[in-house]
Amino acid sequence: MRVFEDPVAFRRALDRARAGGDRVGLVPTMGALHPGHRSLMARAAAECGHVAVSIFVNPLQFDRPEDLARYPRDLVADLGYCEALGVPTVFAPSAQAMFPAGAVTTVSVAGFGDRWEGRSRPGHFDGVATVVAKLFCLAGPCAAYFGEKDFQQLALVRRMAADLSMPVEIVACPTVRDPDGLALSSRNVLLSPREREAAPVLRRALDAGCAAVADGEDRPEAVASLMSGLIEAEPLARLGYAAAVDAADLAVPTSCSEPEALRLLVAAEIGPVRLIDNCAALRPSELAVGSRGRHDLPATAPAF
Ligand code: PAJ
Repeated sequence: MRVFEDPVAFRRALDRARAGGDRVGLVPTMGALHPGHRSLMARAAAECGHVAVSIFVNPLQFDRPEDLARYPRDLVADLGYCEALGVPTVFAPSAQAMFPAGAVTTVSVAGFGDRWEGRSRPGHFDGVATVVAKLFCLAGPCAAYFGEKDFQQLALVRRMAADLSMPVEIVACPTVRDPDGLALSSRNVLLSPREREAAPVLRRALDAGCAAVADGEDRPEAVASLMSGLIEAEPLARLGYAAAVDAADLAVPTSCSEPEALRLLVAAEIGPVRLIDNCAALRPSELAVGSRGRHDLPATAPAF
């Protein structure tokens, strides 16, 4: 495994991989790697001859300095994780190497930065778009892998890549969950045992939203308030938002009449941690056979 800190050396290594005929797959991460990240790496390895993982806690996307300061970091463990999975190339730059003094250019994807996650985290999505655009420029990936867990981020990256004609395929990977339904997240380690017990309320709210849509609820606000009510009933949770939105542009539609294009989003603060989750309003079983199956695809990550 080769680990690069220098952006130019990283670019040259991937130039060589492409010149040798490999499809290059990029998995952008902020480290604190867990099986959610592993599922992205596994998918990239299955589809690409050469996988590159970037590990960079991007200061541009943190609106609160205390959130940046307490973000879990363990580069040695992360490198061991990548090595054990057989990842050939890791990019782990310093903030100085990524954003040298004098860098002022940012990427902003209109309509995404000021709603849902963007509303409570000013500047967050400009920071994400800017670093992802920069990683794409450095790595020149044929495909880049993103988790559905961060659905607004995924939609924003898709929009950016389409709008700027970036020559990269954006691949969406399903959310990997703990057995009780909590979506895996690097921030989960910051929950106390009691807070961790309360956290699956997000998944329960999504399940209730899906059941309402499957039962024919046509009003996005009614689905949203059902989910909000469940989250607000959990004493340790402070509701961020709950919404039923169009999966492409994240706007609230006038009705739920096209449930296959509908995504349910929830966010809450539990203790010191902001948790987000989402799911398709129609589960795959409902799409296929019109039954009332209530579960996502299996939560386990495929073996690397
Ligand atoms: P990070 O939170 O480290 O996540 C890296 C990638 O892993 C993202 O695409 C995220 O959606 C995916 N991921 C995280 N938890 C997951 C889970 N439980 N199941 C499936 N995928 C999961 O997202 C970021 O970093 C940053 O914003 C980044 C894109 C790297 C830009 O800085």
